[in-house]
Amino acid sequence: MRRAPEPDERLLFEEAATLAPRAYAPYSGFAVGAVVVGPSGRGHHGVNVESASYPAGLCAERAALAAMVACGERALRSVAVAAADGQDCLPCGLCLQALAEFGDPAIVARLGGEVLVVQLSDLLTAPFSAGDGALGGRSGEGADEAGG
Ligand code: THU
Repeated sequence: MRRAPEPDERLLFEEAATLAPRAYAPYSGFAVGAVVVGPSGRGHHGVNVESASYPAGLCAERAALAAMVACGERALRSVAVAAADGQDCLPCGLCLQALAEFGDPAIVARLGGEVLVVQLSDLLTAPFSAGDGALGGRSGEGADEAGG
């Protein structure tokens, strides 16, 4: 379900938009900024980083997610993603799966020219999971606990 952003969510989107010009996107020309917020309330930043070997490129959302985990946080409250120049941009399927590892955050993004909020679980209804926890991850160890 979509809803209008709360004032703090709109600010988070604007923060993501200010990051987008820092993206390294010489191949696609599509610059993206992302901010993810964990339990501390602090925003962790990411931009997309492309490569001459195209599949080695990284999306802004996963760059921000890595920054959050590197700071010791393992639960997502919200994710803002913004492309440069006011273009529409929702997280790609690969990023949705990566984000789902750490919860069901509110995603703040522009769609149809409007900034809106949608839950990750509305965009990715059936994320992959290892089921019995044999491969670790949330069902096996609890991704929001500290420690390795
Ligand atoms: N990209 C992101 O960083 N986030 C998204 O949500 C969608 C796409 C990047 C990947 C690539 O560098 C460029 O945008 C074009 O797909």
